[in-house]
Amino acid sequence: MSPQYLTSKLIRKTRFVNIILFLFTTFLLFSLLYIISSSTSFFFTSSLSLLTTSNFDFCTTNYTNYCPCHDPKIQKRFKNTNHFRKERHCPNTNERLKCLIPIPKGYKTPFHWPKSKDNAWFRNVPFTKLLQYKKSQNWVRLEGQKLVFPGGGTSFPDGVKGYVDALNKVLPLTFKSGLIRTVLDVGCGVASFGAYLMDYEILTMSIAPSDEHEAQVQFALERGLPAMLGVLSTHRLPFPSKSFDMAHCSRCLVPWTANDGLYLREIDRIMRPGGYWVLSGPPINWRVNYEAWKIDPKVLEKEQNMLEELAMQLCWEKVAEGEQIAVWKKPTNHISCTQKSKTLRSPKFCNSSDPDNGWYTKMSACIFPLPEVKDINEVSGGALEKWPIRLNSPPPRVRNENNNDGFTLKTYIEDTRTWERRVSYYDTMLKSLSSGKYRNVMDMNAGFGGFAAAMVKYPVWVMNVVPFDAKSNNLGVIFERGLIGTYMDWCEPFSTYPRTYDLIHAHGIFSMYINKCDITDILVEMHRILRPKGSVIIRDNGDIILKVKEIIDKIRWKGTLVGNGTFDPQMILLVHNKE
Ligand SMILES: C[S@@+](CC[C@H](N)C(=O)[O-])C[C@H]1O[C@@H](n2cnc3c(N)ncnc32)[C@H](O)[C@@H]1O
Repeated sequence: MSPQYLTSKLIRKTRFVNIILFLFTTFLLFSLLYIISSSTSFFFTSSLSLLTTSNFDFCTTNYTNYCPCHDPKIQKRFKNTNHFRKERHCPNTNERLKCLIPIPKGYKTPFHWPKSKDNAWFRNVPFTKLLQYKKSQNWVRLEGQKLVFPGGGTSFPDGVKGYVDALNKVLPLTFKSGLIRTVLDVGCGVASFGAYLMDYEILTMSIAPSDEHEAQVQFALERGLPAMLGVLSTHRLPFPSKSFDMAHCSRCLVPWTANDGLYLREIDRIMRPGGYWVLSGPPINWRVNYEAWKIDPKVLEKEQNMLEELAMQLCWEKVAEGEQIAVWKKPTNHISCTQKSKTLRSPKFCNSSDPDNGWYTKMSACIFPLPEVKDINEVSGGALEKWPIRLNSPPPRVRNENNNDGFTLKTYIEDTRTWERRVSYYDTMLKSLSSGKYRNVMDMNAGFGGFAAAMVKYPVWVMNVVPFDAKSNNLGVIFERGLIGTYMDWCEPFSTYPRTYDLIHAHGIFSMYINKCDITDILVEMHRILRPKGSVIIRDNGDIILKVKEIIDKIRWKGTLVGNGTFDPQMILLVHNKE
């Protein structure tokens, strides 16, 4: 017998033994899980009678649309200057509600994706003020029991299609180029701009405060679109620096030149090097438009001049202007800007505070210097690939060896693979990820955005939430991958309306927060933001899962322990909200 023959025989034998060993271990593990799962459900079923008395009750119906950190009663305690009232003002711990938000009478499951982009059930958001107030601008109309969003807006009464076509003509690149993937729409109305950009595979984070035209953002969220309550007031927006490919404001009423240009400087912070700033409405092209706007041309001229001056200080280049739209480009690096500052003593560069801080951090009227480069043609921090290549190619912040967060390219690649595996398992577990039933997903502890990256193949978008004090702050990496998200502190409620997410993914959240605040409050908050008939996947250490399961019973959710499909010691608790 040849040595080759003996070697291959040995290999085959070893493989056989390995397979037997693998099957045996899998069997053992699943039996163990089954025993744990049935004993816990026995434990919980048998102890349910003890717990029923302490089950959470439903709040009264005036809490149906309650947003704890944007509660008009709390807002009244604060001054209204610069929209300060509209910022996040969360209830104190002792003011947190210990009841569950009731659903509106006649609530219906939202339309599946993509129909829901333009249609919603009136009963789910039964507000009529906006229908009347914005009638001429065609924002939304009522057709029988349905709200229809025809794509109108203050700047585009004839429809968002014409507006985006006009924008496409003036922009130096088209929305189809793959070079614009993440957009921030400030003062979004009902988010029709973002809804339309979805057709170009562009993810738009739409923000607006809760204001007198009630529930704009609630309408946007009911359509299943990426939106949050947010306002430019005194604090930075909850995003890292150098994040969005484009920022947009169509008649968003933000006083861009006020307070030493504070708000435009904030836009500069969150835009990536080479990003675009699109402004439409007054004062753009005022000579042509002032009569239609019925605004004094002198006022408009002054405003336009101040805006141009500010853009120059920021070293932005005006790349287009047409009809009511103007577009500026942020420089790809600060080489010439730094030279200018030496001679003109302007722009003012910030010399302290981390530009990536975005959680209750005050805005400052200075420019954050971009990472240094050697060559004028180099992109600060590193160039991004086009979408969709950028999703899985190593993001510059990971490639950059100077990152202080202690992760490496290897960790990042392993993370991506792990989440691909886990998400295919979730697909078999949930069965309907491809159906359009889940339109939006919240990942409460997004890490590198690996979960969201693996979800891209399904018709959903993911809000990647990164706790502001997470061990390593990867929200910048998430944006570099072409995904969107926000900072958050889960000891507080999220800036969204009730019933706004179809699926919530809570990975490691409870082990992270168990010693920080009451995890019951976190679960009550999850109950507030999950849609009726939505689902929750909780993935955490076994001991934590058992604690969570106990609270879940009290909030009337049915949780099932499921195996996690691997040898991973974490456990999964799956909740289908039957409400
Ligand atoms: C006239 S509407 C325009 C809505 C939309 N952009 C359109 O063109 O249809 C103005 C919007 O700006 C928002 N807004 C006003 N001041 C703001 C601020 N300081 N920060 C963020 N949004 C603001 C309002 O809530 C509202 O959504």
